Amino acid sequence: MSISSSSLLLLFSVSICCFVVTSKGDFNTDTKITWGDGRAKITEGGKALTLSIDKKLGSGFQSKKDYLFARFDVEMKLIPGNAAGLVTTFYLSSLEGSHDEVDMEFLGNVTGEPYTLHTNIYAQGEGHRERGFHLWFDPSAKFHQYSIVWNPERIIFMVDNKAVRVHENLANLGVPFPAKQPMWLIASLWNGDQWATQKGRIKANWTDAPYTAHYRNLVITKYAGNNQTLTNLDEKNIRSVQDKFMIYDYCDYGVHPLECEKQNSQANEKPKNSNSGPAPKN
Ligand SMILES: *[C@@H]1O[C@H](CO)[C@@H](O)[C@H](O)[C@H]1NC(C)=O
Ligand SMILES: *[C@@H]1O[C@H](CO)[C@@H](O)[C@H](O)[C@H]1NC(C)=O
Ligand SMILES: *[C@@H]1O[C@H](CO)[C@@H](O)[C@H](O)[C@H]1NC(C)=O
Repeated sequence: MSISSSSLLLLFSVSICCFVVTSKGDFNTDTKITWGDGRAKITEGGKALTLSIDKKLGSGFQSKKDYLFARFDVEMKLIPGNAAGLVTTFYLSSLEGSHDEVDMEFLGNVTGEPYTLHTNIYAQGEGHRERGFHLWFDPSAKFHQYSIVWNPERIIFMVDNKAVRVHENLANLGVPFPAKQPMWLIASLWNGDQWATQKGRIKANWTDAPYTAHYRNLVITKYAGNNQTLTNLDEKNIRSVQDKFMIYDYCDYGVHPLECEKQNSQANEKPKNSNSGPAPKN
């Protein structure tokens, strides 16, 4: 093949591989408020959205469209101070059918104690894939970016554009993976004080309600054949975050032995301590 035709081919394939439809980051165009009786508001002409909660009710929004593989980025600033019992979410769900779901849930805490970022994946109705993290910053002090990357090969959870968890598609080994039906992007602020904070011991305190969580710069990038791979840097980051900040891991409970074995051997060199329970806090 001559140089010019191969570079032409390269150019051609690059333009095919990288043509993606990216939303403009407009909550008016891409989302609709689904509940909350006026407690959810789109602001700044569509660039931002706030969810509020009081004793009576929380609020939520979801994408107007559903997606079969996409990358979802949003910036969030969580409720400051005492947010015990309050759960702020950003997740994907099939809503119906055989249930698929990919969760990022921020579990509030009392003033001065850390939020927990709770992640989970359901595939065809099967869940119990929880991993929880404390963050290395105060997520209520300013905006940080949170992302869910979902493509046919893997799901990647990211914080400030750094991978913190990856879930590989191991369907070829019989492990269910959400790949058969589209999902909606959903976000909500709700009262989870039966279980969320310090295992439900600490309830929401409504004295200073309403409480508000902020979302902005939503970007939905539809999948266009460009599976996002993990770089060495991503793998290093995942190991480091899981070593220092992970507070529980479903793999320690032995619920999904096959995938845990695989994912650990792929991404994790930390010694396996068989009866350690939740990973120690830093
Ligand atoms: C709240 O703070 C406690 C004490 O630091 C911690 O164990 C827990 O993981 C934090 N998060 C939640 C949601 O309870
Ligand atoms: C609830 O919050 C108020 C105001 O911050 C505080 O005075 C009160 O002690 C709190 N109640 C509980 C049960 O912690
Ligand atoms: C993305 O992953 C799917 C499923 O494994 C595969 O069929 C496809 O060829 C991959 N695309 C690229 C560009 O690697």
